[in-house]
Formats: sequence, C-alpha cells, structure tokens
Amino acid sequence: MIRTILTYPNPELKKKSTAVTIINDAVRELARDMAETMYDAPGVGLAAPQIGVHQRVIVIDVSGRDEPGDLIIAINPVIVHAEGEAYEEEGCLSVPKYAANVRRHARVVVKALDLEGNEQTWRAEDLLAIAFQHEIDHLDGILFVDHLSPLKRELFQRKMRRLAENRGVEQ
Ligand code: NI
Repeated sequence: MIRTILTYPNPELKKKSTAVTIINDAVRELARDMAETMYDAPGVGLAAPQIGVHQRVIVIDVSGRDEPGDLIIAINPVIVHAEGEAYEEEGCLSVPKYAANVRRHARVVVKALDLEGNEQTWRAEDLLAIAFQHEIDHLDGILFVDHLSPLKRELFQRKMRRLAENRGVEQ
C-alpha cells in the first residue's frame, strides 16, 4: 500500500525513531509499503518516519532499475565505520522542490537486520554510501537541510516560506 509521505516542516520528521524489537508481519508489511511508496514517488530511499512511523526501518534502491534484487531493506541500521569525504547534491522526498550539496562520508560500513532477522553488512560507497547516511539521519530526526551552513539554511527557509505562501498555507 502506498503511504503518504510527510513533508517539511511536519514535526513528525524531527522525532527520533525507536529500534525494532521483533520482526513480525507488521514490520514486514511496513517494509513492503515503504518500498512501494519509494518506487511510486519515485525516490532512491525512504525511512519509516517519513510515513509517520517512528521505527528504525529504511529502504534504499540506488540502481535506477525497478528490480526486486536491488532493493535494500535495513532494520535497526548502524554505521559501524565511515571514512573519506563526499560533497554531493541531495534531495529528499520530504523536502520537495529543493536540492543542495551536503558533506558526508564517502564510504561507510553499515550493519542491520534483514526481514528474516539475519544480520547483514553492506560496504557502501558513492551514491549508496550517501543514501545510507541520509536515511539513517531520518531515524534520528535529521533532514539533509539540517547539515547546511547557516546562510544556506536561511535561504532554504526563505524559499520554503515563499512556496508555502504560494500554496496559500499559513506557516
Ligand atoms: Ni530523505
């Protein structure tokens, strides 16, 4: 089922998510819905809080294809090693109509559980490394715009206010 993606400045996006303690049908359904929602958007990653569920689950597919084998479902993901520097343009399904360069690590090692409860390890670089860092940030209530310099952040907020005014929404 495709879920509604919450967008900035929805306060639900700022909340920290809690670890999944048992991988049951509800968690499997959540992961399935998240993947469906991500492909529909379309996007390369989605974290559970973006659909208002504060559990540590992320889905990622940076392949640009639509094949099940490329889908990563990571439960309780943790970055156990990070190195190098990246400075690439990012966007987010929760921050429509905005993109900016963000400083990240170039390579990360991520451990997480899969849907069978088995521990998986990913050694990621390039876009996948950035996607892991971006999605894991969501689980801690952090958006990519939170990494911007104060000046860029001010410009971002001004742009968001302008977009909100154009929609006739009070903010
Ligand atoms: Ni995002």
